[in-house]
Amino acid sequence: MSVEPITIKNLTIEEAAAELARLAREIAHHDALYHGKDQPEISDAEYDALKRRNDAIEARFPELIREDSPSRHVGAAPSVTFAPVVHARPMLSLDNTFSQEDVQDFVASVYRFLGRLPDQSIAFTAEPKIDGLSMSIRYENGKLVTAATRGDGTTGENVTANIRTIKEIPNELPKGAPAVVEVRGEVYMAKSDFLALNKQMEAEGKQTYVNPRNTAAGSLRQLDAKVTASRKLKFFAYAWGEMSEMPSDTQFGMVQKFKEWGFPINPLMKRLNSVADILAHYDEIGLLRPDLDYDIDGVVYKVDSLELQQRLGFRSRSPRWATAHKFPAEQAFTTVEKIEIQVGRTGALTPVARLTPITVGGVVVTNATLHNEDYIKGLGNSGEPIREDEHDIRIGDTVIVQRAGDVIPQVLDVVMEKRPADAVPYEFPKKCPVCGSHAVRERNEKTGKLDSVTRCTGGFVCRAQATEHLKHFVSRNAFDIEGLGSKQIDFFFESEDSALKIRTAPEIFTLERRQRDSLTKLENIEGFGKVSVGKLFAAINERREIALHRFIYALGIRHVGETTAKLLARSYGTYEAFATAMKEAASLSGDAWDGLNAIEGIGEIVARAIVEFYKEPRNVEVITALLAELNDGTPLPAEQVAASGSPVAGKTVVFTGSLEKFTRDEAKARAESLGAKVAGSVSKKTDYVVAGPGAGSKLDKARELGVQTMDEDEWLALIGG
Ligand code: IVH
Repeated sequence: MSVEPITIKNLTIEEAAAELARLAREIAHHDALYHGKDQPEISDAEYDALKRRNDAIEARFPELIREDSPSRHVGAAPSVTFAPVVHARPMLSLDNTFSQEDVQDFVASVYRFLGRLPDQSIAFTAEPKIDGLSMSIRYENGKLVTAATRGDGTTGENVTANIRTIKEIPNELPKGAPAVVEVRGEVYMAKSDFLALNKQMEAEGKQTYVNPRNTAAGSLRQLDAKVTASRKLKFFAYAWGEMSEMPSDTQFGMVQKFKEWGFPINPLMKRLNSVADILAHYDEIGLLRPDLDYDIDGVVYKVDSLELQQRLGFRSRSPRWATAHKFPAEQAFTTVEKIEIQVGRTGALTPVARLTPITVGGVVVTNATLHNEDYIKGLGNSGEPIREDEHDIRIGDTVIVQRAGDVIPQVLDVVMEKRPADAVPYEFPKKCPVCGSHAVRERNEKTGKLDSVTRCTGGFVCRAQATEHLKHFVSRNAFDIEGLGSKQIDFFFESEDSALKIRTAPEIFTLERRQRDSLTKLENIEGFGKVSVGKLFAAINERREIALHRFIYALGIRHVGETTAKLLARSYGTYEAFATAMKEAASLSGDAWDGLNAIEGIGEIVARAIVEFYKEPRNVEVITALLAELNDGTPLPAEQVAASGSPVAGKTVVFTGSLEKFTRDEAKARAESLGAKVAGSVSKKTDYVVAGPGAGSKLDKARELGVQTMDEDEWLALIGG
């Protein structure tokens, strides 16, 4: 983050809204890097800090939770990619309103903008805001040709094959429909279908889903459309994109047309003439909400006349003629039965509240994250109180839980009147609950403050850290070994059989050899068949050849994410050169140490973490065993970047704002292939900032620092088109 964040308790509502907008943008950017191109710019910890800040602000201002809030998205995003589709007309979003006054202001602004007097009545439509995924479905000459997700509003993903499996969406339009029709609306999963699916998953011993919206999203993002077909997705039509002809001149009329053409439309849509009527309909829909078989999160009001819509036009991303009147976030009361501690790869101890199961907006909630020791005590990341009177959270407490389309529900507050007389403050463990090693809070070297995270110091000794470490090692951006998932790792790790057990990464590679001479055959073990064992060994053997940056990333050195791993690979070229330098840098001085610190993008904390990692004999031992398993005893040397020829070779570039000709990932890949370094934030070392529409603080910073800025076209001209 470029600016020092304001303490959350001091935020005004306007600042909070602006901050949430910024966080949504920033987190979405990092999500795209992480999931799309596997090239994160920040460490997991930094990412988590952004998410935590977002969550904390949302906890204080639940009414500000955004449509695109990071808390509404599943962390583990889709691993599949779909072809991009550029929307013929951008897919816009809606402004949010939260109170009756907001709605009155909205209506008044429409009258004002159009220069109408209150007695020249303007009609509005009011309909539920469906909590699903918006979709644009294009028909040419009556035939469904493309279906695309909203994406960033300009470019979505092509999910045509999947959409074709939704029975409620016609594949053909009746005769007489215009030649080009784009129907837009919401794909969703009915609550009843969601609950039935979860029941089935549970019966099959599989992981259950979190909520209908995420399940619908996951069901659509399937490369195999048969899976989508089995999920019973549904649809409501409520808007349109390109139309070669307009079959009606009102919002209401258009939607009725969609109904005639065979699309489901929401039965609660009404055309109304006054603010009072609009607000009455909002209340009515609010009362019906618990009984509807689909999740809704507000009511959308739109100016009915298309001519007036046209005149009102748009602000940057949302129309002036519409607004979403949100319902308050869903909350419920329940009790904290237990507080349990989960231990992650880096040893972080995360407390989780086990709750008496409760339904919040139709979804059963049993757990809520408590983040860290301070959070339980009622303190935020900077030590500020986050609950009234600094209430802590205790076992036995009645708490208010909030689920805002969220994966992990939040504990908002404690009902002090209901606190049992014998409730005692929770004592955060001083020892790792898994391995018994000391658990400590480190002091941040930069700020001198205590870290909010408590960490187990057990390292390899800790079973939790070791298994999480192995899971990281085989993960998609590291060794990417198919067939070795979380369940399998746990199984191999727990095994005591010398022909089966895997406690360290090199043992993954010796498994096949150990199996050969053994009587306990993997293929006879439940969950593994002959075919899957063959595939697993093949997948493992394939990785005896591995790119240097993947290898370095897989080691799981603290603070070394993929971007850093790439920098290291590029700078040192071979593993040998890298490891030698790291060992030579052990004293934190001398040429090797200076060389490491001179790499742009590597700061002192990261440099230290790497050197410390190599000082640990156990690490070196494991790496030696691992290298022996690789072809030629080493990872592949890093690709040499074409450092000459291009005017941008060796330059550091930052892309910001939205790009129109490329996706961010494409622009980045292109720049890198020309020898440029792509950075996530602007500093004195930045050479160029390429700014698209919507660029904000990074562009300001570039100007402030006198860094050269350019738009996308100028950039293209510079790199030669
Ligand atoms: S109208 C130009 N109507 O809300 C406005 N949107 O923040 C086009 N949504 O991305 C959208 N129900 O996914 C509209 N009845 C409804 C809606 C609705 C849900 C979603 C949609 C859109 C988001 C806008």
